[in-house]
Amino acid sequence: MAEQVQRATDEEIRAGAELILEARYPIALTGAGMSVESGIPPFRGPGGLWTKYGEPPMNGFQRFMADPKKAWEERLSKRNDELFKPLSVARPNPGHHALVELEQLGVLRFVITQNVDDLHRQAGQQALAEIHGNWTLIRCLDCTKRFHGDSISLEVLPPVCPRCGGMLKSDTVSFGEPIPTDMLNQCAEHSARADLVIVAGTSATVYPAAGFALEVKQRGGVLIEINLYDSEITRICDLSLRGGSAEVLPRLVTAVGALRKASLS
Ligand code: APR
Repeated sequence: MAEQVQRATDEEIRAGAELILEARYPIALTGAGMSVESGIPPFRGPGGLWTKYGEPPMNGFQRFMADPKKAWEERLSKRNDELFKPLSVARPNPGHHALVELEQLGVLRFVITQNVDDLHRQAGQQALAEIHGNWTLIRCLDCTKRFHGDSISLEVLPPVCPRCGGMLKSDTVSFGEPIPTDMLNQCAEHSARADLVIVAGTSATVYPAAGFALEVKQRGGVLIEINLYDSEITRICDLSLRGGSAEVLPRLVTAVGALRKASLS
């Protein structure tokens, strides 16, 4: 069991706020830890779904393509399982709202999230890429158009794209599935401009997502980690703020606001 960690001190929070205000183009990279306080279990670490049940097969996409009808039937049968049930009732937590506030302050330029739970969008984040998709959407594998799940009839499986007749699949990116290029290009564009990344609630074990933070670091940028425990990226972070993101992010944004106000007065 990971040892209980020391909560981020006010001095550490202030140091993080100063780094963020000194940056020209701060972005955030978020993961499942952001949504733990919204009732959605993480994948790895204490309470993680993969920790409990083992990592899923790495060929989920290949299995979908081999038998789309069966894959759709399996997906629809999982509506009440341990991952889907919390997704349907989860709401944004103070961590999600803090990142929206940081965007509204004109400080945070972009958020890359690995989460498919729609919570950043529900919280009001505008400059956002859901690199692993969004569980409420259905995407056409041919023309890449995304549809709201309730706008596509599932009478006949697999459903076909109303626009091009192509193959429809959940927007959630399966293991083995290439990240949609429009999403990848957006993330690459903003991480190329970033000189600071707030890495919140991710084990930083999955690529290309984790690679965007490494790339900024390699170019001399700053990494600020917010995590309950050490992650794969801790050792190269300039600052690690220990604690739950729903508690640490609001403290960080309050400190940014206070410093910003003090500097303007
Ligand atoms: N606040 C902040 N961090 C937390 C909290 C919390 N309340 N609870 C857990 N964490 C941290 C864990 O310590 C861990 O480092 O969040 C991280 C969650 O890691 P993962 O479960 O691996 O989630 P993530 O990094 O988003 O996984 C990446 O893997 O399975 C795929 O597609 C899936 O998008 C996912 C990707």
